[in-house]
Amino acid sequence: MIGLRNVQMSYPVEQSRITVLEDVNLDISSGESVAVIGPSGSGKTTLLLLLAGLDHPDAGSIEIQGTRLDTQSADELANLRRDRMGIVFQSFHLIPSLTALGNVMLPLEIAGATNAETNAHDMLERVGLEHRESHYPTQLSGGEQQRVAIARALVHTPPLILADEPTGNLDKETGRAISDLLFELHDSLGSTLVLVTHDVALASRCDRQLRLDGGSLVETNAHALSA
Ligand SMILES: Nc1ncnc2c1ncn2[C@@H]1O[C@H](COP(=O)(O)OP(=O)(O)O)[C@@H](O)[C@H]1O
Ligand SMILES: [Mg+2]
Repeated sequence: MIGLRNVQMSYPVEQSRITVLEDVNLDISSGESVAVIGPSGSGKTTLLLLLAGLDHPDAGSIEIQGTRLDTQSADELANLRRDRMGIVFQSFHLIPSLTALGNVMLPLEIAGATNAETNAHDMLERVGLEHRESHYPTQLSGGEQQRVAIARALVHTPPLILADEPTGNLDKETGRAISDLLFELHDSLGSTLVLVTHDVALASRCDRQLRLDGGSLVETNAHALSA
């Protein structure tokens, strides 16, 4: 499903560059759930942006379902995200001028799907927000906004879910409910899940745990995480 080979990434800082990913290699099978953990600034978000084709590595290759991202035009990458990915950000990124229903309908409308409204309604029901359909993001709590964002990311049942600290802006209890929802949807849709987090409890719910350390990814395990 996902293959990374010798991926390097750096950012320009003043006159030089800082290397964030040194030599990242990774294989993820279809249907797996994988947590990437690491301290703030270790490159977790960078890795996710590369997987989404929203940024490009300095060197190395990234393949998603047999497609090499570096061979794709910007339009092709946008289509790939639309058709095959659901992306959940830490800070929700809902469109303020659209209702909860409007936000969830958007990816379906962009894809030209029929029954956008019915499907968006069903998805909001699955995340427990059918009674909030006509509310705008500012009228919703953080946990409710993240549930809308998850509904929006998954309404087109993408084969790949990318989530960047999806519980990072939520209190513990709400965060727990959001993780439950994410894993429930991952299980029922059979989607591959790549979850970036510094929350050890959340990471240990995944099939595999990887630690970003000094620019490379190393396989670890749930037991080592809590030690
Ligand atoms: N667009 C950018 N320009 C310059 N530096 C960046 C940029 N994005 C991230 N960085 C730097 O790269 C490092 C990794 O960032 P990030 O991937 O956001 O880490 P994490 O998500 O693990 O907290 C940090 O030192 C950050 O300051
Ligand atoms: Mg980050």
